[in-house]
Amino acid sequence: MTGWTLGIETTAHTFSFGLIDADGLPYPSASDILRPDKGGIHPREAADHHKDVAASLFTKALDSQNLKPSDISAIAYSQGPGLGPCLRVGAAVARGLATRMEVPLIGVNHCVAHIEIGRQQCGCDDPVLLYVSGGNTQVIARLNGRYRVLGETLDIGIGNMLDKFARNQGIPFPGGPKIEQLALQYLEREPHPTMEGLQLPYAVRGMDLTFSGLLTAAQRLIDNGAPLDAVCWSLQEHAFASCVEVAERAMAHTGKSELLLGGGVACNQRIRTMCEEMAEDREGRSFAPPKMYCIDNGTMIGLLGWLELKKRNTSLEQSAIDQYLRTDQTPIVWS
Ligand code: ATP
Ligand code: FE2
Repeated sequence: MTGWTLGIETTAHTFSFGLIDADGLPYPSASDILRPDKGGIHPREAADHHKDVAASLFTKALDSQNLKPSDISAIAYSQGPGLGPCLRVGAAVARGLATRMEVPLIGVNHCVAHIEIGRQQCGCDDPVLLYVSGGNTQVIARLNGRYRVLGETLDIGIGNMLDKFARNQGIPFPGGPKIEQLALQYLEREPHPTMEGLQLPYAVRGMDLTFSGLLTAAQRLIDNGAPLDAVCWSLQEHAFASCVEVAERAMAHTGKSELLLGGGVACNQRIRTMCEEMAEDREGRSFAPPKMYCIDNGTMIGLLGWLELKKRNTSLEQSAIDQYLRTDQTPIVWS
C-alpha cells in the first residue's frame, strides 16, 4: 500500500473513522458515540446518528493528519457482526468513498479487528483472547488458520449486562465505567470486603458463560436494600472471575502462555488486574491495549483492512453486510 488506509466502524453505537499509514502504523480515530438520554440503543436511531455525523467526522479524521482525500489509497469497513441498520450506513459510506476515490474496498470482521489491534499494540504473538464488549463475550485462540471461539456467552454480552444493570439504577449508557467507579468507591469505605450478603450466581457453564442470571440476582440485591456501590463491586468480581476462569482453562488446553484482552469492557482496571494475576500464576503474561483501542474504533478496522488487502479485496457485489458474521468465519490470510 502506498497511501493511507481509512477504516470505518459502525457496528453499534459508535461511528468512527481511523487511519493507518502506508507502513501499517495506526493513528487515533475520530469518533462520535450515540448516548441515548434514556433506554438502550435503538438500531434505527443509531443509524440516523451515524448518517448525521459521517461527513463532519470524515473531515475531522483527514485534518487530524493533514491529509487530502487523494492521500487515501484504500477503504476498510466493518462488514459484521453488528446491528443491521448501523452496519448498512458504514457499508454505504465505504462503497461511496471507494467508488468516488477509485481505491480498493475491503470489508472486515469487527471481532477479528479487536484482536489484531491488540496484537499490534501489545506486541504479543499467539495469545488466548478474552474479548469482552457490549455485544460479545468470547474466549478465542488461533488454531489452524482461524480464530476459534473456545467459549462464549450463551445469552447477553458482559458489557450489555453491566449497561442494563446500570440503566435500571438510572445510570446512563455506557454503564460499565460508572460501575467501575462505584466499585472503587465501595473499596475505599470497605478496604477488606467480604461476599457476605452480596453473593451472586456463578456464570460459568463448561467453557461458556451466562450473564442474565447475574443481572437478575444483582437487581434483587438492590431491591432488598443492599447499597449500590457494594453490589457494583460484587457484580464486577463475579462477572470478571467467570471470564478469567474460562480464559485460564483455554490457556491450559491450548498450551499458550499469552493472554490478550480486547473490547470495551477491557477498559476496566479490575479485569486487567485479574488477568495479570492469573497469567503470572501460570508463568505467562497478560496484555491489554490502550483504552482508545479497546472500545469500538475505526483504526482497528483500518488495520485489519491494511493486513487483508495484501491478499484480497471486496468487490461491490460482495460488499453486503453480515449481521451474524462469526469470528471463525474469517480465514487468517495475514501473519
Ligand atoms: P461489540 O460490537 O464488539 O460487541 P460494543 O458495541 O459493545 O462492541 P465496545 O465499544 O467494544 O462496543 O464496548 C462498549 C462496552 O464497554 C459497553 O458495554 C461499556 O459499558 C463497556 N465499558 C466501557 N468502559 C468500561 C469500564 N471501564 N468497565 C466496564 N465496562 C466498560
Ligand atoms: Fe466492538
